[in-house]
Amino acid sequence: MADRIVLNTISYHGAGAIKEIPGEIQRRGYKKVFVCSDPDLVKFGVTAKVTDLLDEAGIDHALYSEIKPNPTIQNVVDGVEAFKAAGADCIVTIGGGSSMDTAKAIGVIINNPEFADVRSLEGVAPTKNHAVFTIAVPTTAGTAAEVTINYVITDVEKVRKFVCVDTNDAPEVAVVDPDMMASMPAGLTAATGMDALTHAIEGYTTKAAWELTDMFHLEAIKLISENLRDSVAEAKEHKGGSGREGMALAQYIAGMGFSNVGLGVDHAMAHTLSAHYDTPHGVACAMLLPIAMEFNKPVVTERLARVAVAMGVDTAGMSVEEAADAAIAAVKQLSEDVNIPKVCEAITEDELDQITRDAMADACFPGNPREATFDDVKDMFRKIMK
Ligand SMILES: NC(=O)c1ccc[n+]([C@@H]2O[C@H](COP(=O)([O-])OP(=O)(O)OC[C@H]3O[C@@H](n4cnc5c(N)ncnc54)[C@H](O)[C@@H]3O)[C@@H](O)[C@H]2O)c1
Ligand SMILES: [Fe+2]
Repeated sequence: MADRIVLNTISYHGAGAIKEIPGEIQRRGYKKVFVCSDPDLVKFGVTAKVTDLLDEAGIDHALYSEIKPNPTIQNVVDGVEAFKAAGADCIVTIGGGSSMDTAKAIGVIINNPEFADVRSLEGVAPTKNHAVFTIAVPTTAGTAAEVTINYVITDVEKVRKFVCVDTNDAPEVAVVDPDMMASMPAGLTAATGMDALTHAIEGYTTKAAWELTDMFHLEAIKLISENLRDSVAEAKEHKGGSGREGMALAQYIAGMGFSNVGLGVDHAMAHTLSAHYDTPHGVACAMLLPIAMEFNKPVVTERLARVAVAMGVDTAGMSVEEAADAAIAAVKQLSEDVNIPKVCEAITEDELDQITRDAMADACFPGNPREATFDDVKDMFRKIMK
């Protein structure tokens, strides 16, 4: 099969980029915007940074913000009804992965109503029509949902998160403005930044990786290693700066890569932790990252050695094996420097078999470069238990 790259039609980057939004809507003749955001972002005035611009331009809009972190099927179903009730004809989504993923599912269902149950969108769904025209504005620097062809929804009843992969969900326009991320607290900055690093490293070592995605992933790893610590420091001082700017770009570049080749066992296990224990996605990814790298090392030693170089490690004089170990050590150090926890206290011995089965059923699992057995996955979960 041919290699394939899907990206936004247009993306804007840099401080002040949100000023482009009204023009993008007006030039296409849309009349009413469905704004999809979350309650905290509305409360803290982050959503208003964009809706104020819509008001100034005289663009009519309706707000939907019934979205929780790790968004649920119900959030999507309610959103579809709200979209219809609003009489909207386009979407502007403002938020982290949770808001953007919900908006993607809503936009897909509006134009493909046969998938209104949401569950049938899992995996590669055979939707016929592209989602409603969407402009995605990330407020975290991690998921890159503004450029990916994926979205992740939680099935509360079945206690699982499921990944949907569909080229019809890619937002036409992404607006990646570091000012929209400036209010992230330090913990969220760290967790979402480590999610981006996990995308870049898993994407670089996944089965389907190829030259074009390698290019994106290596650059993302370099930029994250250079900027995440500064970004967290800026968060502590409640200010923007070069760290924030670097991370806004880095996470997007990682998304340009992994969206097109998939991930691996880390994300499969992380989705399971979030479904069972509501663990924030980035924290789950980060805790598991050195463990998954160690597991995959025998089949991707050389690639991990190149990760070490991208992370700024001086590998001169090291064997390939030593350089791969140095990459794992660098990831652990970065996690420690930005205060990522090492254990998930909620996991209990009697749930281990169930979460292992769930992780192995996740859509990211087959992309892992090394085949992982039930016992392998269970052992990896054990390593983050108290
Ligand atoms: N679509 C994809 O390709 C993709 C990739 C990775 C993860 N995800 C999914 O994305 C979700 C996680 O998204 P996330 O990590 O971006 O977080 P999130 O969207 O779940 O937000 C987490 C919390 O941070 C707050 N927040 C967001 N931006 C803020 C800001 N600028 N200032 C202050 N608070 C802010 C939100 O209000 C929310 O309470 C998960 O469901 C995950 O599975 C999707
Ligand atoms: Fe992720």
